[in-house]
Amino acid sequence: MKTISIGEVDQYDGEEVIIKGWLFNRRSSGGIQFLQIRDGSGIIQGVLKEGSVDSDLFEMALDLKRESSLVVQGEVKRDERAPIGYELEVSDISVQQSVKDDFPITPKEHGPGFLMDHRHLWIRAKGSAPVLRVRHELLQALREFFDREGLIATEGPILTGVSVEGTTTLFETDYFGEDAYLTQSSQLYLEATAAALGEVYWIGPVFRAEKSKTRKHLTEFWMAEAELSWVEHDENLDFQEKMVHYVVNRVVDKRRDELESLGVNTEALVKKVEKPFPRISYKEAIEIVNEAGIDMNTGEDFGAPAETALGDHFDKPVFIEAFPRELKPFYMEPMPNGETVYAADLIAPDGYGELIGGSQRIDDLELLEDRLDEEGLPRDPYEWYLDLRRYGSVPHSGFGLGVERTIAWICNLDHVRETIPFPRQINRIYP
Ligand code: 4AD
Ligand code: MG
Repeated sequence: MKTISIGEVDQYDGEEVIIKGWLFNRRSSGGIQFLQIRDGSGIIQGVLKEGSVDSDLFEMALDLKRESSLVVQGEVKRDERAPIGYELEVSDISVQQSVKDDFPITPKEHGPGFLMDHRHLWIRAKGSAPVLRVRHELLQALREFFDREGLIATEGPILTGVSVEGTTTLFETDYFGEDAYLTQSSQLYLEATAAALGEVYWIGPVFRAEKSKTRKHLTEFWMAEAELSWVEHDENLDFQEKMVHYVVNRVVDKRRDELESLGVNTEALVKKVEKPFPRISYKEAIEIVNEAGIDMNTGEDFGAPAETALGDHFDKPVFIEAFPRELKPFYMEPMPNGETVYAADLIAPDGYGELIGGSQRIDDLELLEDRLDEEGLPRDPYEWYLDLRRYGSVPHSGFGLGVERTIAWICNLDHVRETIPFPRQINRIYP
């Protein structure tokens, strides 16, 4: 007999099959039991009728507790009323492990602290597993997009000797007597591999000792970064716009069921990522924010209320360009006025904040040296980075997309901690 996954039941209508999974939930009424069985690909309702199955089997099934692991045999039956359109008429169950205690996560409401303490079990829940499937799809879509655009997948090190995004959020560690840091971004290393390979990307974990306890910040998160040789600012934004449009459409196409189970309006989402995305300057953005009644002055970063106001104003992702130099890291190319830089942040609609940070990089050696000095950064650890401006420097640009923020936005979630199996936050390293 064939063992199948729940996700493919539609190909087995009327056939006797085996499904290996876990008892997600159950209910019985009179002589009939309904067992919700999940296997990671979906949930199917197994039906056991007293009299039609062996009475020992019927009795045994009555005692099964949630999350018991089971090998279930039965006939796939089309049923319009079932959420997935099919049910399983159970003929046999072999129990792999019979759970003794009640499963801690119940369908009733739990506080976030309790859920986070049980994250290793919570990921099985109805609201969690679909998000993780969307995560899988987003990562696949990003890789597929980069690959189609001809980028080469590469890596930077996790243990580094330099800071990229400022020195205040570095995780320091002792590296055999030397100072080392967990990487905040692979960008500087990607600039080196881009000069070797042309156009490159990587998707991997980065680390920031963020003291902020917000719904947008993790201390360990994933970034999708690309670095493009010979590409200047505007083309960098065109590329990002094309990417966001592509990945959102692909996630919606492949994970519509999951998104709809999370209450996402997929039609509206697809409409929001229609190209082009507005591009406005930092100055214009402040005006919009002020008009919305939020106090913000030139020289300040956008706080959460300001980002929400921008999202509401456009109801689409919006690029904010031309940031004052002082607000941004040392490596960004100044604009001709010398005051602002060729940077852009992509702000999501619906209050999800900054999804992408990117810029054109300084390609002139002296200018870069001056900027390091201005920021009070030591030259020595950056000598290799300066070499990239000594040997065949070219205009180049890149960006980093925050994977968790993007998932939170796509899935309409309250907090980025729900987008990664084991989130790391300022107050949490367990489980
Ligand atoms: O804007 P950021 O700091 O940009 C960089 O690190 C560049 N070096 C990337 C590059 O040009 N290659 O970070 C990029 C994105 C942000 O837009 C945001 O989406 C996400 O990473 N991000 C975070 N996500 C979760 N938790 C945090 N603490 C985050 N900090 C940034
Ligand atoms: Mg940023």
